[in-house]
Amino acid sequence: MINFKELANEHKTPLYIYDLDYMTKQYGDLKDAFKGRKSIMAYAVKSNSNLSIVKHFADLGSGADCVSIGEVRRAFLAGVPAYKIIFSGVGKSDDEIREAIEKDILYINVESEAELGRVELIAKELNSTSRISIRVNPNIDPQTHPYISTGLHDNKFGVELDTAKRMYIRANNSQYLDPVGIHFHIGSQLTELKPIYESAEIVADLVRSLSNIKIELKFFDIGGGLGVKYDDEITIAPYDYAQAILGTLKGLDLTVICEPGRFLTANAGYFLTKVLYEKQNGAKRFVVVDGAMNDLLRPSLYNAYHKIEVITDSESELSKADVVGPVCESGDFFAKDYQLPVLEHNDLLVVHSAGAYGFGMGSNYNTRGRSAEVALEDGKARLIRKRENFEDLIALEKDLLV
Ligand code: LLP
Repeated sequence: MINFKELANEHKTPLYIYDLDYMTKQYGDLKDAFKGRKSIMAYAVKSNSNLSIVKHFADLGSGADCVSIGEVRRAFLAGVPAYKIIFSGVGKSDDEIREAIEKDILYINVESEAELGRVELIAKELNSTSRISIRVNPNIDPQTHPYISTGLHDNKFGVELDTAKRMYIRANNSQYLDPVGIHFHIGSQLTELKPIYESAEIVADLVRSLSNIKIELKFFDIGGGLGVKYDDEITIAPYDYAQAILGTLKGLDLTVICEPGRFLTANAGYFLTKVLYEKQNGAKRFVVVDGAMNDLLRPSLYNAYHKIEVITDSESELSKADVVGPVCESGDFFAKDYQLPVLEHNDLLVVHSAGAYGFGMGSNYNTRGRSAEVALEDGKARLIRKRENFEDLIALEKDLLV
């Protein structure tokens, strides 16, 4: 049992709490599911990029899937070895590509023909060879929220099969490119196995047809996307996930690269916020709290459900309320029509499943400093990010005042 009250009193609110032991367990479950096959777990840093979290996974043997050079630098700082770092993303700048090649990471996931051209040119300037993988868009509907669906031709990600094949041939003929992998990632918060299986099959077939023309790849990068339980979702078991993927790889000697984010971090995280006031506008009841959409954006952006646990002495009847923050937007809410007792000033709300895409998607909107972050491990709590104060927020502006 986590003592949320004590943590809130010690570190103030709003506050993020992460249970590292839970992350360890999730990591072990997924890694074990692939046993018998060479595999690398490359933690999707974007899901929670706090250095101590990235280091926690690095210590467990994880690599890192990064989508900006900032994330690549975080991975290095956290102790992830270069040979386990992947750089993905649809729009890498020349500077980012240059640094990734210089740092000699495992490979760059290339997402367009134009990008392949830039990588080749930059590798040539550096008199180097860049290991690459190509992200294939299998045009499969992942059946998830449209904002986090990435595997359809309507989405900006990856390239069509024919284009991918052309790119592999070009890369194979270039002395500055070394095609080592193939990649797909059809979306996030996936709860259906079939689209994953179908995508893997399409991509594995491409690997075979490349092998027929003597282009031999080493890495089969299945992306991330495993869904978790926020509410009453039925999720995919790691074992079934691994079996479905491995079933498509018969006869192929490939190392599986998996890029899990949410599966490792979402349900390890809690967002603590205190009640400021209750108010009533006509028939509508609002609970106003000290956290806001700048701290945890998922409800506002995706209408995402997060369970809310109440820590109060109140024994009143439950009634529906919207839980809202202080930001000047009607979209600033954590829950709508949520059953809650009557709450007092300083009662504590614990927003669950906040470990993935929580803090990282935060902002300073309304000149609000970002929350502190605390890690729990072996029954001990330690601060892993200080609360931002006003001075932090104006540091890059104040000397420029004229
Ligand atoms: N690999 C690639 C190439 C990705 O684009 C992503 C996530 C992952 C791995 C990790 O996916 P995961 O295992 O976490 O599902 N902000 C959204 C989620 C965006 C996911 C973006 N890509 C949310 O809060 O639901």
